[in-house]
Amino acid sequence: MHPFKTKPKGGYNWFDGDGMLHGCRIKAGKVAYSNHAVRTARLKQELQAGTPLFFKIGEVKGFAGFLHVLLFAAKVRLGFVDPEKGIGTANTAVVYHANRLLALQESDMPYAWASSDVERIHFMGGYSTHSLLIPRLTLQQNMVEKNEGPFRWDASRPTRFWLLQRNAVSSRDIRCFTYPEAMFVMHTAAAFEEGDIVYLYASAQPRFQLVAPAGTTHGGPVSHSLWHPKLYEFTFNLSSGEMTRTALAPGLSSDMPAIDRSLTGRKVRYVYASTMSTGPLVRFDRLVKYDLAAPIGRKVVGLIDHGGPRYVGGEAFFVPRTGGPVLKCGEDDGYLLTYVHDTVSNVSSFVVYDARTFDCEPVARVKLPQRVPYGFHCLHVPERDLKEQDFSSS
Ligand SMILES: [Fe+2]
Repeated sequence: MHPFKTKPKGGYNWFDGDGMLHGCRIKAGKVAYSNHAVRTARLKQELQAGTPLFFKIGEVKGFAGFLHVLLFAAKVRLGFVDPEKGIGTANTAVVYHANRLLALQESDMPYAWASSDVERIHFMGGYSTHSLLIPRLTLQQNMVEKNEGPFRWDASRPTRFWLLQRNAVSSRDIRCFTYPEAMFVMHTAAAFEEGDIVYLYASAQPRFQLVAPAGTTHGGPVSHSLWHPKLYEFTFNLSSGEMTRTALAPGLSSDMPAIDRSLTGRKVRYVYASTMSTGPLVRFDRLVKYDLAAPIGRKVVGLIDHGGPRYVGGEAFFVPRTGGPVLKCGEDDGYLLTYVHDTVSNVSSFVVYDARTFDCEPVARVKLPQRVPYGFHCLHVPERDLKEQDFSSS
């Protein structure tokens, strides 16, 4: 969604679009769709001015990008824009935390859903839309360097992982592990520990491009040759200090990994992810199911094709099966909820797949009255949680 209907003049970045929440309410066998723009401080200021005021990540490239930053600094100095109120688009991820439905983006505070608006709320300290919490340790990967624009990718640099004990009292409680090759890790799937070994499952790629070339707005931010993540198993030996990296399916590119989130921090067996086509643009064309307990070479135990090259998916969210005459049986007894877009008819659908059978024929497919941009994060919140929402401002 962009209120000014202007096409990006420079490069494109997924974080640039103004945030909009798309929701499907599932009840009594029926689906109701609605959406709500996140009225960020940035959007409010731009709507009031009637023109874009903030620079976009996609514009920060080369000398022209440098000028964009200078121009923005001048606007701030002259009082045309106030970045202190917030600069983010709140368009990346949604979490339900402390009885609040929060829209997130890295560059700003969360925006909380309220009964009539989505308002910015403040937390002490920073936060990230791309981090992972496990029981004893909080683990966050270290990016080497972002490239393009003001950043440059240095392929000669190693990758560092930092393990932070939850009960840490000083920097001595942080353990650093170094992998000799450069890589970029955006999305983590699962992490748990067994004895002295911490296991991490995450998508990693050999390099990263922050700003896409102009003209690649529809398919994603970067060409596939640059964005080629695979699901890896990382191990960190707390006794020896050694770490390993193993690709679960070396020939398969996938990202947006998901698990049964009720198992966060515990040993999991199944990881679901979206595969990426081998075309010039980023397109999530299938869902894949990894069995972490299977031997190397046989980790992929299921593939769901959304219907052909005209269909593009995104993150699939696992929801355990509840209710009904039979109790949930097994970790993968549940559903994968996702949005699929038909690029020919320009129609989006809400689609539910069976996570256990991984049958290409969905359990449910509901055509939506509104196009839903694809490739973004999603979340399932039970109605009982939504009823306990805290709408107070902070
Ligand atoms: Fe993400």
